[in-house]
Amino acid sequence: MNVKISGTGSSLPHKILTNADLEQMIDTSDEWIRTRTGITERRIAAPGEYTSTFAAEAARNALAMAGVHPEELDLIILSTVTPDFPFPSTACIVQDILGAVNATAFDLSAACSGFIYGLSVAEKYIRSGAAKKILVIGSETLSRIVDWQDRNTCVLFGDGAGAVVLEASSESDHSLLSTHTFSNGAHWNLLYQPGSGSRNPASASRTIDERLIYITMEGNEVFKHAVRGMEEAAIKALDSNGLAPADISLLIPHQANQRIISATAKRLEIDPPRLFTNLHRYGNTSSASIPIALDEANRQGLLKPDGKILLVAFGGGFTYGSALVNW
Ligand code: ACO
Repeated sequence: MNVKISGTGSSLPHKILTNADLEQMIDTSDEWIRTRTGITERRIAAPGEYTSTFAAEAARNALAMAGVHPEELDLIILSTVTPDFPFPSTACIVQDILGAVNATAFDLSAACSGFIYGLSVAEKYIRSGAAKKILVIGSETLSRIVDWQDRNTCVLFGDGAGAVVLEASSESDHSLLSTHTFSNGAHWNLLYQPGSGSRNPASASRTIDERLIYITMEGNEVFKHAVRGMEEAAIKALDSNGLAPADISLLIPHQANQRIISATAKRLEIDPPRLFTNLHRYGNTSSASIPIALDEANRQGLLKPDGKILLVAFGGGFTYGSALVNW
């Protein structure tokens, strides 16, 4: 039994926030942002657009490519750190929007690694026979939890969603060869949202007064762990499939920072033509970044038959992971 990616889709807000726009808002420069991060612009949700909005559109695009009707879905897994509400799950809202009445739906929280975690869970559902058709979505509206007064973080993030349809298949093309996930909770406080959970409830005045509702991050520390974690996860994927870096036709890493991506690719001996990036246009969209990139690479014809596609992610938690796909 193979686990086939039968469709990919993505959705991005129309509103573009450029580095020049940020220069008007905070003490920063286009030059600083581009050289330190590789980002030139990002997409920002408009009023009335939510995580479910982008998730549903990305899902519809993936379902259309797969030729799968929403009623055929057995499961919807939606990864996000910016759900529409703390509860119910955004996955249930998306189920309702799509009319996927036969699907079980739940959210998954693994920050920027969430899409890889979602693939890993979905793979096990299909291999065990518990599900045949699954939608895995990564969707974020990070602009709603970014402190627009904090130049250390607000330049990095953007909004959007990506999705894939996974199906049980006897064919080996477009198939997941492996998924691997890792967690290191010892560093949970290097990248997190202090407020709006049970420790610092949204209802406490301290949460607002001390700006605890926003993303907080030790950028330098995260950077070091990210490069090491992505390398470890990528090597695990290669080793478990008996492959070498030369066998990889395209590396699609989590789009956090060009310097993290370049350092990871260098350690893995993946040359630039085999590296996919769209970070310059979208910034870091957390769990949406890999499925958006996968969909763009797919629609641009960059995924070749029998090509080995390596997906690798790192994020808050810390969480990290990889997936290897035979296209
Ligand atoms: N514009 C201008 N100056 C800035 C800005 C800005 N937007 N942000 C920070 N600076 C300043 C700092 O205040 C500091 O000034 P100081 O020396 O006077 O104190 C100086 O630039 C250098 O700051 P550093 O934090 O040392 O800069 P660094 O080169 O480490 O780059 C960055 C910071 C881009 C955040 C980097 O550490 C990074 O990318 N880390 C990874 C974080 C990340 O990607 N997180 C996303 C989630 S995790 C993930 O997705 C993998």
